[in-house]
Amino acid sequence: MFTASTSGLASSIVVIILLSSILRLTFAQKDNGNECSCFQTNGSSAGYFTFHRFLDYRNIPSISPEVPALIPNITNATNAIATSDFFTNEAWRNDWAIQNWNNSDDVASGDSPTLRVNSANNVYIEKSNDTDPSYATFLTLRTARLPTFQSTGEIDSVEKNYRYLSARFRARVIGSPGACAGIFTYRHTTPSPSSVQEADIEILTRGARNAVQYTNQPSQDAQTGDDVPEATRNVTIPQGRDWTAWNTYRVDWMPGMTSWYVNGVSVADIGFQTPKDPAGLCVNIWSDGGVWTGNMSTYDEAFLQIQWVEVVFNTSGPYVGPTDKRGMVKRKGEKEKGCKVVCGIDEKVNITGTPAVLSSRAGAARNGNGSLVLVPLLLVIGLVFGYF
Ligand SMILES: *[C@@H]1O[C@H](CO)[C@@H](O)[C@H](O)[C@H]1NC(C)=O
Ligand SMILES: *[C@@H]1O[C@H](CO)[C@@H](O)[C@H](O)[C@H]1NC(C)=O
Ligand SMILES: *[C@@H]1O[C@H](CO)[C@@H](O)[C@H](O)[C@H]1NC(C)=O
Ligand SMILES: *[C@@H]1O[C@H](CO)[C@@H](O)[C@H](O)[C@H]1NC(C)=O
Ligand SMILES: *[C@@H]1O[C@H](CO)[C@@H](O)[C@H](O)[C@H]1NC(C)=O
Ligand SMILES: *[C@@H]1O[C@H](CO)[C@@H](O)[C@H](O)[C@H]1NC(C)=O
Ligand SMILES: *[C@@H]1O[C@H](CO)[C@@H](O)[C@H](O)[C@H]1NC(C)=O
Ligand SMILES: *[C@@H]1O[C@H](CO)[C@@H](O)[C@H](O)[C@H]1NC(C)=O
Ligand SMILES: *[C@@H]1O[C@H](CO)[C@@H](O)[C@H](O)[C@H]1NC(C)=O
Repeated sequence: MFTASTSGLASSIVVIILLSSILRLTFAQKDNGNECSCFQTNGSSAGYFTFHRFLDYRNIPSISPEVPALIPNITNATNAIATSDFFTNEAWRNDWAIQNWNNSDDVASGDSPTLRVNSANNVYIEKSNDTDPSYATFLTLRTARLPTFQSTGEIDSVEKNYRYLSARFRARVIGSPGACAGIFTYRHTTPSPSSVQEADIEILTRGARNAVQYTNQPSQDAQTGDDVPEATRNVTIPQGRDWTAWNTYRVDWMPGMTSWYVNGVSVADIGFQTPKDPAGLCVNIWSDGGVWTGNMSTYDEAFLQIQWVEVVFNTSGPYVGPTDKRGMVKRKGEKEKGCKVVCGIDEKVNITGTPAVLSSRAGAARNGNGSLVLVPLLLVIGLVFGYF
């Protein structure tokens, strides 16, 4: 059957390589739910999603040193290496990129009083000192005010092509006033800063311990600098809890509406300027001495700590650039195929991060991934034949 021409062989190899990378991508993104055709969320913003990721930082073995010493030199903080092998492994790097940019442009323009320098040294796995036995470790992002700058921590998702998601973070914030802990979808298109699109969760350590700010950015008018009140809500965490305790923060970025929950309770819905275009996820803790974060006292510190992250999502297409128009095109057959095995990530879940099968059409479970394989396969074949 094989024609032994070199171009035939080359095209076969191309098919195999492309197909295996797409298959890996497809299956790698159904954590604890390979049998699921889609994942369902609950609440007023309920929806169905194709992919599921569960990132668990609760029992990471043999971490040393536990808390990295602060690096007081700006250059060294910028160039700092990962705090442990955990962050150089593929398992981490598939999902997150640790940031080391700074805001020197904003300092130069007078927008930020304090130089903020992101450092890999502020992203580490910490051994729990709590009495709760359900977690031995967690992920910590740190910010500290040093004599010459604010040392900060940020991780950005490698996936920049989310288009609608429901993300949950089991997190707490502790430490001194003057920091902002942020969990948000992020899309920035140059050149206009007003073209930023974000759905934000923000916690200010200078603020009330039970207050969380939710925003569809931008929250300020690009021309006048005035606040845009429709873009934002300042919410009290329900059930008498506060952000120094572990809570599950959920953001549902859906078409036309962003909805936020804490511990399964709805706290805010904003339809105004809901992000429309493909975006990534960012997680950070920072300060720049401005009016939003306030100033942190020298040598003070604050921490955003995370036990686990669970995200269900769709993408607008497989890993296309943000300005690529093809990113907006739905993959053929997506809508029509429907969902054979519906798994919930809220209802009936017994083990955190393991979706529960809610409904399954007879005989469908075995071939639950069939349509997902077929679509990329057709795409690859089309691509290859287009070349030859
Ligand atoms: C979603 O389901 C979970 C688990 O049953 C529950 O705790 C939560 O309150 C539900 N949320 C909403 C908004 O219905
Ligand atoms: C910065 O790093 C250099 C080596 O790259 C080292 O010699 C120096 O001591 C470091 N400075 C600080 C303040 O850590
Ligand atoms: C920071 O460390 C670099 C070397 O990595 C050195 O050239 C520079 O002078 C140091 N800065 C300060 C303020 O010590
Ligand atoms: C900030 O980042 C820019 C761009 O990477 C770099 O050129 C500059 O040296 C950095 N500034 C400081 C103060 O480290
Ligand atoms: C851990 O807890 C013990 C007992 O509560 C306390 O003495 C110790 O300072 C704590 N260590 C850290 C790093 O918080
Ligand atoms: C949010 O509301 C709380 C409680 O009213 C208040 O203390 C806090 O300053 C407000 N935060 C912002 C950013 O407006
Ligand atoms: C923080 O401190 C700097 C330097 O003293 C100052 O310029 C800035 O206005 C302060 N920020 C606030 C919010 O007070
Ligand atoms: C995600 O994609 C599936 C399959 O196309 C679709 O049924 C579902 O409605 C999408 N979810 C959202 C929130 O757009
Ligand atoms: C969850 O636990 C209950 C009680 O043990 C059991 O009946 C149910 O089948 C479990 N659900 C799943 C999805 O495993």
